[in-house]
Amino acid sequence: MSALEALRRARAPGRVNLIGEHTDYNGLPVLPMALDRDVVLTYRARADGRVLVRNVDPRFEPVSFELEETIRPEPAGAWGNYPRAAAQALRSEVGPLRGLEGEVRSTVPVAAGLSSSSALVVATALALLELNQATVPTGRLMALLAAGERYVGVEGGGMDQAISLGGVAGHAIRIDFRPTLLRTPVPVPPEWRFVVAPSGIEAAKAAGAREAYNTRVRECRAALTRFADANLDGQVPEDYAALLALMPAAWALELAADTLDGDLLRRFHHVVSEGDRVRQAEMALRQGDPERFGRLMNASHASLRDDYAVSVGELDAMVEIALGHGAVGARLTGAGFGGAIVALARADRAGEVVEGLAREYYVPRGMTPAAFIAVPGPGARVE
Ligand code: GLA
Repeated sequence: MSALEALRRARAPGRVNLIGEHTDYNGLPVLPMALDRDVVLTYRARADGRVLVRNVDPRFEPVSFELEETIRPEPAGAWGNYPRAAAQALRSEVGPLRGLEGEVRSTVPVAAGLSSSSALVVATALALLELNQATVPTGRLMALLAAGERYVGVEGGGMDQAISLGGVAGHAIRIDFRPTLLRTPVPVPPEWRFVVAPSGIEAAKAAGAREAYNTRVRECRAALTRFADANLDGQVPEDYAALLALMPAAWALELAADTLDGDLLRRFHHVVSEGDRVRQAEMALRQGDPERFGRLMNASHASLRDDYAVSVGELDAMVEIALGHGAVGARLTGAGFGGAIVALARADRAGEVVEGLAREYYVPRGMTPAAFIAVPGPGARVE
């Protein structure tokens, strides 16, 4: 390390997804907002190609690796795979790179379904780009890091990296993935409050939820193939977006009800109906209609619980508590299997939702109340 190298900071926000869950890897839109909570990587350049990163959180071991052509992963589940994922993606895209040493701290709750891991990927990538004076166009970087993060063994979609890089203060962003990645910022009305409440059940993408998540990805694919065999002469559309370019959602759902069954029918039903809810929710947001937005959130939660089977009892209980204390809608957010809920309330009721969750969820379980009001923040940057 040269003492002459100045310290820089790469900041990347976590996100809360308002609606559009498990749609991204199916080609259908999502509606997240970036949080005003970041993963911050304070770093300086190294003359060689080594990356050395420590985390101020003592639960995470220091990470050290060479920026080789092929960067070998640590065992599945290790946090060190996230900086490695960013490094591998950029090494393949831009060629040899100088390394860095740095320190990570996070104000994004970890393993809470708020994408602290993708924020770490994004922060590492921005730091490596900056110190190597390399650039990758933003849209390309979003897709590159989304694909790159599959390095950790989760067949994730593109939402988390896109919103962390592309957040806009005061706005939710509708993200479309087809035909190309497209971001449409939508202002959040000043009197709307999104309350985010981590359940304390870890939803680490890198841990137990990994297999369950990947199973859903495979089931969606299988449902689409079965649907095409029965209804499209076996011509399998590339994804659900391609299917819905051929027929309206209501028609697809009717055909599916006649030709699919069991889990595949339920997965298909969730994906197609959730894609539709994103469009309706965006309209409700634009029209400043929180009740309508809230009803869509409730429908999303029911679909994730009953058809997609990714909720857990704690999340269901938190949703009920939020609704019982003045929220107009509430749902699990993120991949599920734990993680957090998001609830919508008018400004004058949001405090009651936060307090209701404290009294009826956190305190009885001996937990520190952790619900907070999410402020839509800006995207990632180096400063
Ligand atoms: C995780 C993935 C995202 C998305 C959500 C579910 O956060 O990383 O790509 O699939 O789950 O909506």
